[in-house]
Order: sequence, then structure tokens, then C-alpha cells
Amino acid sequence: MPNKNLNKAPSETTVLVTGGAGYIGSHTCVELLNKGYKVVIVDDLSNSKKEAVRRIKEITGVDDSQLIFYENNLLEMDVIQDIFKENEIDAIMHFAGYKAVGESVEKPLEYYVNNLMGSFVLCDCARDAGVKNLIFSSSATVYGDPAEIPITENCPKGNPTNPYGQTKSMQEQVFQDIYVGDNEWNIVLLRYFNPIGAHESGKIGEDPKGIPNNLVPYVSQVAVGKLDKIRVWGDDYDTPDGTGVRDYIHVVDLAKGHVAALEWMAKKNNGVEVFNLGTGKGSSVLEVIKAFEKACGHELAYEIKDRRPGDIATCYADATKAKKEMGWVAEFDINKMCEDSWNWQKNNPDGYR
Ligand code: UD1
Repeated sequence: MPNKNLNKAPSETTVLVTGGAGYIGSHTCVELLNKGYKVVIVDDLSNSKKEAVRRIKEITGVDDSQLIFYENNLLEMDVIQDIFKENEIDAIMHFAGYKAVGESVEKPLEYYVNNLMGSFVLCDCARDAGVKNLIFSSSATVYGDPAEIPITENCPKGNPTNPYGQTKSMQEQVFQDIYVGDNEWNIVLLRYFNPIGAHESGKIGEDPKGIPNNLVPYVSQVAVGKLDKIRVWGDDYDTPDGTGVRDYIHVVDLAKGHVAALEWMAKKNNGVEVFNLGTGKGSSVLEVIKAFEKACGHELAYEIKDRRPGDIATCYADATKAKKEMGWVAEFDINKMCEDSWNWQKNNPDGYR
């Protein structure tokens, strides 16, 4: 079946957003809706809340004619088939998946089944419906311990140190193979660096289950008084201040990167294309703590601990390809990221609960 043509107005284009109630998915829905696209979310709410969908509507002012929500898992194949029948889907943004690194080590099978099979079912149903435009939520984790810094898209894939990272890398491979088998597909693999921050309104943001693993959600909870002290995982790396350096990117910039990818996809020929989404600038753990102190207006207690297994010293993007090809650049700096993370955290100390 021929692929859907994306060369039409946003108001005539419907995007299926899997995992659209989640952290990055919800921010992307807001940017799509602001541009006038129609959005269909499928999300099983395994790591998100329906309240996020309500707040997407609140921020954008759209109603059910522009945003439809299905509470389902991608493995429910009959339902996914029906979603493609009930809606004129033109393109897919695929965020749905488990994403906790530590948990993936303990529950590898759950991660492989959910993330890989979810993608298989999605692609199978999409193909049957003639929808072959797909933007995939990948991660810089696929570079493993990167062969070069800054990391360009030509940097070879490495060996992710955990099953979560493996699922991202394997899914990328599956999408590459699907294209080789059927050149009608139009696929963009977006490799994110470290998304932080929240929507400026403070209505949507990251809502981790339990004690956060990632730096900024942890720092936010220390700032709001829910946790005691930040644990800095190592200060003996080969970096300017000894702590790990990452390319933090504002989640709203990241969301806009997805819209840019969709617009870019509408103009080009079919294929598989990889883009790094990062700022191209690295910040150390101590720099992030400083920026957050500035945002929240008080000092934050921290202690230096041993290195965390699986961590690397430095990871930041060369983001020139996304700029050159899609005209996309990240606008917000680390201060703005921390201000918006703090704004979300202080207004929602218990997340969406
Ligand atoms: C992690 C995952 C990565 C995933 C990404 C999602 C690992 C090894 N990698 O990236 O696969 O795509 O999250 O956002 O887990 N740090 C502290 N104290 C903390 C938490 C973190 O010092 O409590 C440090 C880390 O050592 C690192 C930096 O902060 O230097 C960022 O860590 P984190 O936010 O967990 O992200 P990554 O490890 O880069």
C-alpha cells in the first residue's frame, strides 16, 4: 500500500503519538497542537497519568475534535488496528516504552517484550493502514561509550550497558530493516541527549515513579525538601571539575525538534535518517546543581559518592546536522531548564497525584 502523503496543512494532518501522556510525549503533543496538528494519543498510563492529557488540553485550549486519547498498550493488537481504522492517521511519533535503566537490569524480559514487541505491533498495524511515516524516540545511549566527542550521527553505535539501552539500539535496527524491505517507509530516528525542564506554564513536567534515578528530578526533589541530599556520582572523572558532563536539553526544545522532523519529512524523499537532538554544550553535575540553586533561590546539600556503574565521563552532541537539515536548534540554556524544572516541581510537589 502506498504511504500517506504529508504534504498538506497541519489542520489536515493527524499524528498518532504513542506514549503521549509521558514526559517527552506530552510536551510534544503541546507543540503539535499549537501548530494546528490533530493528535491521537495511545498510552497505557503505566508510567504516566491521565491528568497529563487533561493538562495538555488546558495549555493548548483544544477539545476532543483535535485530541483523542486511548488508554491502551501497544501489545493490544486488535485495539491498535482499530485505532488506525477509526482515525485518518498520517504519521506516527513513537515514544511509548519502558525507560528506567536500573529497572531494566532487573526486569530485562519485561523491557524486551514491551519495547520491542510494542514497536513490532505498531509497525505491523501501521503498514496495514498504509501509514509509513514514523519518528522514533531514540537515545544517545545507543552510542555506548562514544568513540568521539562531540558525538556526530556518524559516530558508530556502541554497546549500551543495560537492557533499556539495548532495546533502543535494537528498535533502531528494526526500523532500518523495515525500510530496506519496503522503501515506502519514511523514518527518522531522533537520538536525545539528556532531556530536562518542563513546560513554562508549570502544568506538565517529569513525574518519576518512586525515587528518581536521573540527576535533575533528584535535585528537584532535594530542592522541594522531599529528599535530603544530592548524591554526586564521582568527582574523579577526566572532566574540568571531575564530575560527569552531559548535554542537557530543554524538553520543549526537544518537543519542537519532533515537529521540525515531521515538517522536514514532508519535504524529502523516503528513507531512514538519524538526528542527534542536543544543545552541543556539556554541563557538569556541579554546574547543574549551581544552576538549580540559582533557580530555586537556596543552597542544595550534596555529597560526593563513588562512581555509578555504567556511567561515562562525558557525553555531548554535535547538533549541526539537525540545524543544517531541519533548521532546528535548541534555544534554552541550562538556567532556563532549571528554572522550568523548579517551576514544575514547586507547583506539583507530588507530580500529577
Ligand atoms: C541516563 C541513562 C540513559 C538514559 C537517560 C534518560 C544511565 C547510565 N544512562 O543517562 O541511558 O537515556 O538517563 O534521561 O543511567 N548523577 C549524579 N547523581 C544522581 C544522578 C545522576 O551525580 O543522583 C550524575 C550521573 O553520574 C551523570 C549525570 O548526573 O554524570 C546525569 O545522570 P542521569 O540524569 O542519570 O543521566 P545519564 O546517566 O546521562
